[in-house]
Amino acid sequence: MEYQNLLIEQKEDIRIITIHRPQDLNALNTELLSELDCAFADASADAETSVIILTGEGKSFVAGADIAQMSTMDAAEAKAFGEFGADVFRRIETMEKVVIAAVNGYALGGGCELAMACDIRIASSKAKIGQPETGLGITPGFNGTQRLPRLVGLGRAKEIILAAETIDAAEAYRIGLFNKVVEPDQLMDAAMALAKKIASKAQLAVRYSKEAMNGGADGSFEGGMALEANLFALCFATEDQKEGMKAFMEKRPAEFKSR
Ligand code: COA
Repeated sequence: MEYQNLLIEQKEDIRIITIHRPQDLNALNTELLSELDCAFADASADAETSVIILTGEGKSFVAGADIAQMSTMDAAEAKAFGEFGADVFRRIETMEKVVIAAVNGYALGGGCELAMACDIRIASSKAKIGQPETGLGITPGFNGTQRLPRLVGLGRAKEIILAAETIDAAEAYRIGLFNKVVEPDQLMDAAMALAKKIASKAQLAVRYSKEAMNGGADGSFEGGMALEANLFALCFATEDQKEGMKAFMEKRPAEFKSR
């Protein structure tokens, strides 16, 4: 598929999706959200892809939902727009493969929400992240009110959302919103190194682990226990489990086949 707002690169089994709408600092309009949905579905279906890196072109990761598009919406249109973006992000969050956000610059509003829907966030020291929506007369609309408290705790999330705070990379790292902060010219190397590390592990075990963490995060501890028990057992039906343990005992690197 030809994308108007995305660049797609494949480096071995790592897919890099770069948001490229620089004239509007990569703001998310309906077209860009649809393209992201397609690009992630494509990466999900591609047998050669293990891990996906999502980043932005220029000084912005994503500067939010498109304010020009939203400015003329009525309540019904806003509901449809919010639900569409939220559904796209939820599909990214719950896809089997691991998604790393390489946050290169501004991640505001929908950009913060998109980064939070990814599994892991590596950031440039120049990145800035926050939820400015209350300054525009709206609430976050792509589930920032739900994900931010889960990531940084309710008190800090309330401060960021209610005061429309934008924080720098060091502060975002300190509160656990960014996993790691590196110099701007090291960002893609750092994201790639982590992607390769994850891609070198048994992919079925990686995917079941992600599913267990996602599934457990929102339910009861007992529900999470049952989910993990089943996925742990399922690993023992894979060739990768046999290979991983055999390789350990034979003191050699494992050769995983995602089977
Ligand atoms: N939606 C639509 N257009 C946006 C946008 C957004 N979320 N964010 C930036 N743009 C556009 C600007 O309107 C401007 O367009 P123009 O050149 O046609 O005037 C262009 O991107 C560059 O933005 P500008 O504000 O001039 O860049 P800056 O470096 O001075 O400031 C930001 C960068 C990110 C601080 C600033 O653009 C900003 O505050 N953006 C909105 C962030 C936001 O509130 N997001 C949440 C939306 S719910």
